[in-house]
Amino acid sequence: MTNTSMPASDVSVTSGQGEPLTVVIVGASGDLTRRLLFPALHRLISLGRLPRSLHIVGYAIEKWSTADLLAHLRDGVDQFGDGVDNLVWPEITANTTYVQGDLSAESIKALCALVHGPAVFYLALPPNLFGQAASALGEVGLANEDAGWRRLVIEKPFGTSLETAEQLQADLQAHWRENQLYRIDHFLGKESVQNLLVFRLANRFVEAVWNNANIVQVQITAAETIGLEGRWRYYDKAGALRDMVQNHLMQLFAICAMEPPSVWDSEVLREHKVEVLRCVRPFEDTDITTRTVRGQYGAGQGNGNGSVAYRAEENIDATSNTETYAAVQFFVDNWRWQGVPFSIRSGKRMSGALTEIALELRDPPTRLFDSIGVPVDGSEGPRSSNWIVLRLRPDESIEIDAVAKKAGLGMTTERSVLSTTDANSGGSEYTAYEQLVIDVVEGDGSMFIRNDEAMESWRLMQPVLNAWSSGTPALYPSGTDGPAPPPGFFSEGRSWRPVGA
Ligand code: BG6
Repeated sequence: MTNTSMPASDVSVTSGQGEPLTVVIVGASGDLTRRLLFPALHRLISLGRLPRSLHIVGYAIEKWSTADLLAHLRDGVDQFGDGVDNLVWPEITANTTYVQGDLSAESIKALCALVHGPAVFYLALPPNLFGQAASALGEVGLANEDAGWRRLVIEKPFGTSLETAEQLQADLQAHWRENQLYRIDHFLGKESVQNLLVFRLANRFVEAVWNNANIVQVQITAAETIGLEGRWRYYDKAGALRDMVQNHLMQLFAICAMEPPSVWDSEVLREHKVEVLRCVRPFEDTDITTRTVRGQYGAGQGNGNGSVAYRAEENIDATSNTETYAAVQFFVDNWRWQGVPFSIRSGKRMSGALTEIALELRDPPTRLFDSIGVPVDGSEGPRSSNWIVLRLRPDESIEIDAVAKKAGLGMTTERSVLSTTDANSGGSEYTAYEQLVIDVVEGDGSMFIRNDEAMESWRLMQPVLNAWSSGTPALYPSGTDGPAPPPGFFSEGRSWRPVGA
């Protein structure tokens, strides 16, 4: 995790041999480059976090010139960034080169003439091409660090199953060492996820309650109101479990449930995360009906307007069984969490946009005041006296939902929410994506996924994916909160936290 107050001049961008930093974008003609990667590079250059001398090499199959690439990049900054910064644009233009080629080693070796010092290779490619591109770069010697460090960046999904993830890893490690690999999960770049680490590890009172003696259940939610957003080609093959749960939500789980590391070090941090993933009790066949739920949105009121069923979306087969909602519940077999259910869900076209980790504290041993136990929203919500909520969306906040005395006569109680929202309302100066780009350049792997974390997470989800490969998901109307969990999923009187307002 980068200390973002550090001035640009401190960014280590040379190999020590005076060579400038090069960023090679493999797949530079695509959407990821235009929408996210280049706007981030441009803004970081503009803010002085990356040097104006940054050498950008775009590599792609299109028969383009450097001018064509620059037009593509500029269009991205205009549409998805802050607009071009005229102070830095002439230098960016002068330092950018386009190379046309495919993913064969023969073609990719053209890059050797352009990359001399430290370099980031960013694979802005469809995920099924990661292995091929990483191998070709390695074969021509570009992973070799004799002339400066070399780092390879890929963004989820890392495989589509345990088997394909293992194959990808085999392709990557044929030429690259694990510490050269930066696997992006953009959730780890979010301010509130990093704040969860600080909240947990910098406040002694938090650690005192962060265990099964005090926490009765944990719910992790990523509910979205959006639907396919034109991503049918990818999404219909992926589904909610692969798209959100296996990666983003299991990362939130790992950060929330891991043991506290004793030093701030990227390897130690990731060791602790993988350790808690290893403690998750594997899903048995019988758990599929009792501890997992899959759903698909039907027609309804998504986004406040009438919206079509998933199967009626453009380009989606009318018989598609892809899940747009996935929920799983598991237990963690270690001293800290034994007996505490972790319930994790994500869905599209739900009633609200809500991403949060919520830990419910046990009731006090005696009930002195009548209203303790009234649901959070006063209605049919979960019965809880206290929740600790780490919210990523719609606002970024940490809340402690507690009971306090209502002013006035008598010992009447009311809910009182202690929230960090106001203190943090300024947010971060950098987007999640920009933070991660800075971390790659600075060689800080803390907020990137290590291979063993990805594998553990696939190992856990694979039995669920196997079971879900046949049968049909339950339909839920757009604008609602997914299918009801099976009986017994929650203990008596408990349910999912409310999603919509
Ligand atoms: C992406 C998923 O990784 O994360 C999308 O592919 C999802 O389906 C998105 O919408 C959610 O990210 P965020 O940052 O908008 O919560």
